[in-house]
Amino acid sequence: SCSWQEPRAAMLLLCLLALLAMCRPVQGTGNCGIRPLTSDKERGLTRVVGGKSAEAGAWPWLVSIQDPSVSGTGHLCGGSLISAKWVLTAAHCFADAMRLLIGATQLTEPGPGAQVRLIKRLLVHKEYGPADQSNDIALLELNEPVQCSSYIQLACVPNATVNVALLETCYVAGWGATTARSQKSSDVLQEAKVHLINVQVCNSSEWYQGDVHSHNLCAGYPEGGIDTCQGDSGGPLMCKDNNADFFWVVGVTSWGRGCARAKRPGIYTSVQHFYDWILLQMELLPQPWPTTLPPPKPWPTTLPHPKPCLIPTPVEEIKTCPFPLNKLMEFFTQMQELLKNLRGIPV
Ligand SMILES: *[C@@H]1O[C@H](CO)[C@@H](O)[C@H](O)[C@H]1NC(C)=O
Ligand SMILES: *[C@@H]1O[C@H](CO)[C@@H](O)[C@H](O)[C@H]1NC(C)=O
Repeated sequence: SCSWQEPRAAMLLLCLLALLAMCRPVQGTGNCGIRPLTSDKERGLTRVVGGKSAEAGAWPWLVSIQDPSVSGTGHLCGGSLISAKWVLTAAHCFADAMRLLIGATQLTEPGPGAQVRLIKRLLVHKEYGPADQSNDIALLELNEPVQCSSYIQLACVPNATVNVALLETCYVAGWGATTARSQKSSDVLQEAKVHLINVQVCNSSEWYQGDVHSHNLCAGYPEGGIDTCQGDSGGPLMCKDNNADFFWVVGVTSWGRGCARAKRPGIYTSVQHFYDWILLQMELLPQPWPTTLPPPKPWPTTLPHPKPCLIPTPVEEIKTCPFPLNKLMEFFTQMQELLKNLRGIPV
């Protein structure tokens, strides 16, 4: 009889499901944007400039983009981990050799939860305009995928169906300057609660006078005081889902006039607006991991077979988790086969 094998298979399935739950996919299905080390109930109103230090693991998709040739931590910009091998950031951030620190809160003491990666490929939006910061968005491919943990989680990327304007609980976070005058980055990640501000108001004559693009979001306070600043660029503007306990990365910190001034709130690239662009970049990449960079391929103007929503495939995610899940999956499949075969044997 093979009856003992069925509970075992069931247990294996349970185990698999439990392990799968550790890996967070990009899509906003409640499996990303989760903060395992932070209880939202304990948090009071937090106020970057006018912010406060974040607790360890508070924003587990935050990435510090660093230039190792600069003394100290070399922190330049922020970013958001949106898959095990992709970081979303701003186009205007880039210098040559960059190092990515993922899963850290304090840059000088990253702790055992942090992982360092190098950039395998940088994809800046083709229509990025340095003069007016239009399409200020970029994707970084990591040289090696990161592993999920309590300190490292993926951010949720909103698609067109998310009504961003209705999201009420929003935060910015980054290692940028804590005062408008200081050009120094902060050692400890700073976070601040902000409000989304209507872009038409933000674009009006007393505010940004027409400099705000339709693909921007505006966030902060009309009276100023709390804002992102130098060094926060590329980092996320994050809003909690109204119905569930996870966060969306709705914006990429782009620019502002000064920091924390009245009627000069932070301007963010709206991630939702670039959802298809993000998918396209991630989808077009070659599958294997060559040790040398392949020559850049020209992007086709039309996709041969446009497929909706492919970031990332579950299998791709599974491979990147801290468990040998692909092996386990293989084993499970073989187990199923075995069971099928055993069932077929006449008693
Ligand atoms: C947007 O994402 C949700 C899940 O997060 C999905 O159900 C929906 O089909 C997506 N819509 C589009 C237009 O891609
Ligand atoms: C802001 O105003 C400028 C100039 O009037 C316009 O070109 C731009 O589209 C406006 N932005 C938004 C978000 O409406």
